[in-house]
Amino acid sequence: MNKYYQNQTQATIPGKVRHRSDKEISHSRTVLQKMSRSWHKRAQVKQNIEENFQPEWAFDPTKDDFRLDLLPFKEHDDFLNAPVEMQKQILSCGWIAYNEKTIDIESKVISPACNHIIYRSLPGVDDGISQQIASETLVDEAYHILLVINACCITREHRGLQSLKLPEFNLVRNMYYEQANFSEPWQKILIQLATAIVSEVFISDYLNLLAHDTTIQPFNQMVVATHQRDELAHSSIFKTLTKCIYRNLSPEQKEFFIEVLPKPVSWFANVELTVWEAILKQIGFPKTESMMADCAASNQVNLLRIDYSELIALAGELGILDSQHGVDSFGREGLFH
Ligand SMILES: [Fe+2]
Ligand SMILES: [Fe+2]
Repeated sequence: MNKYYQNQTQATIPGKVRHRSDKEISHSRTVLQKMSRSWHKRAQVKQNIEENFQPEWAFDPTKDDFRLDLLPFKEHDDFLNAPVEMQKQILSCGWIAYNEKTIDIESKVISPACNHIIYRSLPGVDDGISQQIASETLVDEAYHILLVINACCITREHRGLQSLKLPEFNLVRNMYYEQANFSEPWQKILIQLATAIVSEVFISDYLNLLAHDTTIQPFNQMVVATHQRDELAHSSIFKTLTKCIYRNLSPEQKEFFIEVLPKPVSWFANVELTVWEAILKQIGFPKTESMMADCAASNQVNLLRIDYSELIALAGELGILDSQHGVDSFGREGLFH
């Protein structure tokens, strides 16, 4: 176990609660074991699906690359009055941004959290099955990065967007800012974990926005649907790992975790106006700044687009919402009334 957790976890949990907690952890490990056994059958990386990803037949240049209703400025007059070709180019940029946010989630949020489990830096998951399932999840995420990188390359090539460069996304930037506010390594690790849990719970919804949409580019829809099949399992894996970890935190660590768990929801739901501003300036959209200022005034964070009931259910199962601190913490983020 990592030195930051040594002597701070099991020993601080009173006997009676610990007994119940041990049974729950054993149940969670059985769930993880079952999920790990099915990995070879369910993982998309194992399905030999490369032949389905030939863009020659799946890429239809006449179809839009992205959904119009996912643009934060979809109702703004300046966008609606722009030439159709520019609107289509903006949709292609939206697809690239959607994918690059996915890469950020996989490489900067989920993979480091998996590594904390593999390196036994977190309590309650320092056992073989947790290491195995974290390693399998890392393989899945590496495959998703490959899928998404390929998809971006194809779009950039077909749409002449090879030089488009995007800044860092809100989710990752806010996670790093939050980590910088705290000095203890265990605090930084728990912020990483909270961001990973929220991302893994929400990414299925995020992918669901395109996974079944037959009106967009068929190749893009296929890529997202393939990714989503893995993420349905990841959500359960991360929720189960969280139960093992949370029950082994010290009271101080639990209080800290209760405080940080709801924060990544608004980071995830942010409509990424900074990224959009960079995109629109690069493709020469007129009046970018005034349109972004109008959007910033109305909808920087769109919680309506996200179903956070699963996160509330997880917090309930952990007992977080039985405490006033939990209710206040989730209430401050607009998630619990
Ligand atoms: Fe993924
Ligand atoms: Fe995932």
